[in-house]
Amino acid sequence: MIPDPDPIPLPAPAGLLTALLVLTFVLHILAMNVTLGGTAIATVSDFVGRRRADERYRLLARHLVSLLPITLAATITLGVAPLLFVQTLYGQFFYTSSILLAWPWLAVAPLVIVAYYGIYLYAWQGERLGDRRIWVGMGSALLLMVVAFLYVNNITLMLTPDRWQDIYASHSSGLFLNGEEATLVPRLLHFLVAAPAVAGAALVVYALFMKGRSPEGYWTWAARYGALWFLVPTVIQAALGPLFLFRLPSAVRDPFVGDDTLRTALLLAGIGAAVLGLLAMAAALRLRNPLPPGLAGGLCLVAAVSLMSITRHLVRDEYLSPRFSTGDLAVDSQTALIVLFFVLLAGAVAVVGYMARAILRAPGPAPPQ
Ligand code: HEM
Repeated sequence: MIPDPDPIPLPAPAGLLTALLVLTFVLHILAMNVTLGGTAIATVSDFVGRRRADERYRLLARHLVSLLPITLAATITLGVAPLLFVQTLYGQFFYTSSILLAWPWLAVAPLVIVAYYGIYLYAWQGERLGDRRIWVGMGSALLLMVVAFLYVNNITLMLTPDRWQDIYASHSSGLFLNGEEATLVPRLLHFLVAAPAVAGAALVVYALFMKGRSPEGYWTWAARYGALWFLVPTVIQAALGPLFLFRLPSAVRDPFVGDDTLRTALLLAGIGAAVLGLLAMAAALRLRNPLPPGLAGGLCLVAAVSLMSITRHLVRDEYLSPRFSTGDLAVDSQTALIVLFFVLLAGAVAVVGYMARAILRAPGPAPPQ
């Protein structure tokens, strides 16, 4: 049932395209986590601020919400790059699963657009909306979770071509969801629970840059608050990670639990980086100056997400390996195009760096009246 690969050869070696797929996926998933987790933290903080009449929570919500339109734009733009690479390398798998999902998959774009409008509304009209803005924030977070759910459906379905024919025969309505997939729920939860943790760590790093600005002591408090948002979900991951691992078919899992030294070491390194991040953030909660351990915790987290993303990629290859390897695809390297790609990439990185500097220097929202 697996269609033939595209007859047009790859424009660059499969190894290079794979490295770019994993790299851009890491960037996409970090931005997605900051957006989804940031929306959740902002909404909860806004709610808590109102209940406790504590201005710090409300000010934090305003700060976070003012950044969300930017991080959502980054999520979408950084999603396009892995989309192109995954189509180039795994087109016959990704297209087939997309067609089988049909309408739910087509719903991704409208859902993202509505979530985007909600986030703009919260960021730009929040004060005018009053209490209702909390509902708008919750609605956008929910829509983003549905988008994540649909992605997990597609990415898991593309790995199981044995099931495609039956699905095609029994779901002519175009309303299929991959609910029978054993890894679907733990995989989705693994991504969703990571979101507030990554957003919490991003808040700690943001507070590091903002330290010294008014109001007095606020950014130290914000860093501790971010560290707490990192810690609680990461402890929950300690249960979800193993659940996900043990739901994988044994042929896929075994190389990661001892059968293959490199794969096992990679998974352990990812877990180790997360544990180090946990310890650093725990120190940030207790120390008078939470910023140095908070920054170390943030770096550990980026390392953990990167190592886990490489592991995720190897899991995909393990699923497909009996019948497919990207190494077998025909290659006709177009050196000029590859060079042009890297020149433009360097330019884009410079522009993004310039924009990030401008954001960090901006005065930020005023405290609520
Ligand atoms: C804004 C809301 C979005 C959310 C919440 C989201 C979430 C996710 C999640 C959770 C995954 C991992 C799925 C898995 O491994 O099972 C994923 C993968 C992916 N996302 Fe997004 N995504 C969003 C938007 C986008 C957009 C707009 C694009 C493209 C334009 C995109 C492109 C991708 C691609 C290509 C992958 C798979 C990469 C791979 O398999 O290596 N995403 N996304």
